[in-house]
Amino acid sequence: MEKEIGKIGVFTSGGDAPGMNAAIRAVVRSAIYYKKEVYGIMRGYEGMIEGDIVRLGARSVSNIIQRGGTILKTARCQEFRTVEGRKRAYESLRKIGIDALVAIGGNGTFTGLHKFYEEHGIPSICIPGTIDNDLPGTDFSIGYDTATNTAVEAIDKIRDTALSHNRVFFIEVMGRHSGYIAVNSGVAGGAVAIILPEETTTFDELFAALEAGEKTNKKSNLVVIAEGSKIGGAYELARKVKERSSYFDIKVTILGHLQRGGSPTYFDRVLASKMGVAAVEGLLQGKRDAMVGIKGNKIVYNDFKTIIDVPSNEIDAESLRIAKILSI
Ligand code: F6P
Repeated sequence: MEKEIGKIGVFTSGGDAPGMNAAIRAVVRSAIYYKKEVYGIMRGYEGMIEGDIVRLGARSVSNIIQRGGTILKTARCQEFRTVEGRKRAYESLRKIGIDALVAIGGNGTFTGLHKFYEEHGIPSICIPGTIDNDLPGTDFSIGYDTATNTAVEAIDKIRDTALSHNRVFFIEVMGRHSGYIAVNSGVAGGAVAIILPEETTTFDELFAALEAGEKTNKKSNLVVIAEGSKIGGAYELARKVKERSSYFDIKVTILGHLQRGGSPTYFDRVLASKMGVAAVEGLLQGKRDAMVGIKGNKIVYNDFKTIIDVPSNEIDAESLRIAKILSI
């Protein structure tokens, strides 16, 4: 029989996301509320393997709810992908007596933890933290709202200069496999076209949208492109448009890692707080190998088997439909 949970380890892994600190705080404080010891595992699986683990108290997480990044640091760890790496991580946890884990991260983090659970049976639960919002089983992941707001703020600023010069701007946002940031920052920023990794917009369609704008006297044309666009990134698309027509005065802006930082929005702080508490309560109620999610504003627990191998969250088809109607 599984022994009662006494020591919970929490860590962040993969790309950081605004709101991860709020989630760490919620995990630490709720674990202490339920009279458990909590340990912060530094640098994700890297720190787990190396035994870089610190005891956390309620005051260790003071003044972090509003901070971007992650106080526990993060890493993308290759060694944890191996059986030996996971064995070393298990030994480190055993030394301290950590008998349950909460991971905050994305797909790769969860897949690693799922393997770890299968091999070593440590009760574990995941909290979705990624700006990409690309996880099945939840309407929102922590960080997505903040990152999208950051992108919108940047798009608004670019619009000012685009309008002053009658220019076309190609703005690249993050999302290798997921177009969530692109589609919703595109809607909120009034983009003329939005190019997503999941959608097969052709170059001709993009060009036609720009031409239509020109004919209908649009003074600024903002195209939002997800970094994983299948028809080329912002620079490549800009080059191709210029090759076809010298009419457009095009500039390119890549927003990049700017979208990963900054103070989390109220939405991400509340989401992270709810999910952090839910993760600890879930563990104590016997949930294992699961991911916390939010569906229709209610906390849910997804059995990991129901979400593994499901490549990503579905495309936001309604936002995309709206964007097309409103970009005429
Ligand atoms: O998964 C989050 C994300 O920001 C993606 O949008 C982006 O493609 C990737 O991480 C970048 O990763 P890194 O910071 O390791 O370059």
